Amino acid sequence: MYPKLTITLLTAALSLSLASSAIAGPREDQMAHYASAAKAADPTFAGFSAVRGKALYVQAFTGGKPDTATCATCHGRDPRTPGRALTGKTIEPMAVSASPARYTDPVKVEKWFKRNCTEVMGRECTAREKGDWLSFMAGQ
Ligand code: HEC
Repeated sequence: MYPKLTITLLTAALSLSLASSAIAGPREDQMAHYASAAKAADPTFAGFSAVRGKALYVQAFTGGKPDTATCATCHGRDPRTPGRALTGKTIEPMAVSASPARYTDPVKVEKWFKRNCTEVMGRECTAREKGDWLSFMAGQ
């Protein structure tokens, strides 16, 4: 009906999305930090993988607590929908598209990676695993 307005809005939306992907924010800084740690741990490291991040999300581990064998146990099968802690408390979605404020506070990110990886896997996540997780969640 208003073709001119539609084009203007589309152009504005497009330049906004281009700008937000070009400007490095706390999430990108965090990824860069994990990338250099992953490279230091393994010189053959060739970048993060959303596919590996997805596998990490749903994979059942045996090293941690038996009632929380997977990350999805609390965060839900679909990261774009809310999860539920064992206490029944709702957890906001982990996907960036559904929860844009996720992974923007490095202290919070590290605190929960440490706590949850230990609970699920019986060890801390590696820098590569954290970066894979963030790649997966950023694309969801
Ligand atoms: C026992 C339930 C539970 C399990 C299992 C669990 N989480 Fe969580 N996770 C939480 C809760 C609760 C929060 C904090 C609440 C929130 O951020 O909404 C959280 C938050 C996080 C955050 C912080 C996100 C942010 O906003 O910065 C990360 C990262 C995370 N979890 C990763 C993982 C990974 C990786 C696994 C699997 C290895 C996992 N979680 C398994 C309950 C869980």
